[in-house]
Amino acid sequence: MANKNSVTMTDNRTGKSFEYNIIDPTLGASVVDIATFYKDTGLFMLDRGFTSTASCRSRITYIDGSKGKLMYRGYDISYLATQKSFVDTAHLLLYKKLPTNEERDAFKLELKKRSFVHEGMKKLFDAFPDNAHPMAILSAAVSALSTFYFDHLDIDSPEEYMEMAKRIIAKIPTIAAFSYRYSRGLPIIYPNLDRGFTENILYMLRAYPHDHIDLKPIEVKALDTIFTLHADHEQNASTTTVRTVASTHAHPYAAISAGICALWGRSHGGANESVISQLEMIGDVKNVEKYIAKAKDKNDPFRLMGFGHRVYKNFDPRATILKDIREQLMKERAIDSKLIEVANKIEEIALHDEYFIERGLYPNIDFYSGLILRALGIPKEMYAVIFVIGRVPGWIAQWIEFKEQPDGKIARPRQLYLGPTEIKPE
Ligand code: CMC
Repeated sequence: MANKNSVTMTDNRTGKSFEYNIIDPTLGASVVDIATFYKDTGLFMLDRGFTSTASCRSRITYIDGSKGKLMYRGYDISYLATQKSFVDTAHLLLYKKLPTNEERDAFKLELKKRSFVHEGMKKLFDAFPDNAHPMAILSAAVSALSTFYFDHLDIDSPEEYMEMAKRIIAKIPTIAAFSYRYSRGLPIIYPNLDRGFTENILYMLRAYPHDHIDLKPIEVKALDTIFTLHADHEQNASTTTVRTVASTHAHPYAAISAGICALWGRSHGGANESVISQLEMIGDVKNVEKYIAKAKDKNDPFRLMGFGHRVYKNFDPRATILKDIREQLMKERAIDSKLIEVANKIEEIALHDEYFIERGLYPNIDFYSGLILRALGIPKEMYAVIFVIGRVPGWIAQWIEFKEQPDGKIARPRQLYLGPTEIKPE
């Protein structure tokens, strides 16, 4: 008699049946444990793009794509984005709890103290050609971190990897700002210890030496919200990359650097840059219909950037929060009205079009974040870098979670080989 909480699979070639246990989650879809499937049947499972495969067990982030729900460690994203700061969220991801006032002050102070980078790293930035993409500089610089900071490199010591975690969260904004300043030939600006975490980033991007700049609270709030909304997103492509590198027992800086490279693509973190490029290319509301038709045409590779998501098939809750922030920001800072008009028209048409409705294609976070970053005066090539600053606490939390699982196995997928059979040389 088969266990009720199991799945029985029959190999019709042999008539043999095999039973696999179902593991129930605290939330979401149950999972079939197929670890012995190959041993039992001699077969692999083929799941291109992991559409039906859970690659790990996790307690960090939960997404319900059909309800448009996102939670970090049990807290709803709208609560964190509207009532808490990015630093609070980073603490939550790292230490599994929101900070008390004392913990918050101590965490902020630690991040401030660690925000400077070794002066020797400037030589690394010098070596890159003008106009190098800041994402390329960022991934190289993060990978180089371990060569400048020799202490706390024992990846098996929790005390040491927690130090590394704080170091990387603190230094990424400085490295990101340096990447931008060097790529434009601008004088670099050091972190200002009188400014908060997010405020400092805008300052390092915008200021000139000995310059005093005032930042509007709504600007800081908008960027802080973008960071919070990006802080983690369960097993997406870049997080899976970070976990895969972690599974080889490589250093966390190497894992984060690999995550940055994976994030860069336009289907993932590079989408916000592509959204703005696409809006600029469309240029005018009168062209929108033509591009919607191109997006729907099966024979045309054109896709509407900022639309669609592998998991969200109803709406992206992050997009809803950002739309609201965009409205608030528009009251105090000029947002390119021509681009907003084009974006609004695309949204209006797509939300009522059968093609998009049938496929569950809704505006995602990148559809709104690009316009906000543009209003904050942040250049397009920095958008994915901004995504990285937000995502680092999530990547680190996932790296730590992998480390703390006693039975973590090296990631080693199998394949369906379709190449030539053995060729006998003549
Ligand atoms: N424009 C037009 N058609 C689309 C789009 C789009 N943006 N996205 C998906 N489709 C169609 C696709 O052609 C396919 O149609 P059909 O079933 O007729 O073949 C169907 O929708 C399903 O698409 P898919 O590519 O199988 O879906 P996926 O889950 O593999 O891809 C995605 C998800 C985000 C890569 C994709 O929707 C996309 O390329 N979107 C544009 C890029 C983008 O905005 N990326 C940012 C994602 S959010 C930030 C992040 O988390 O990284």
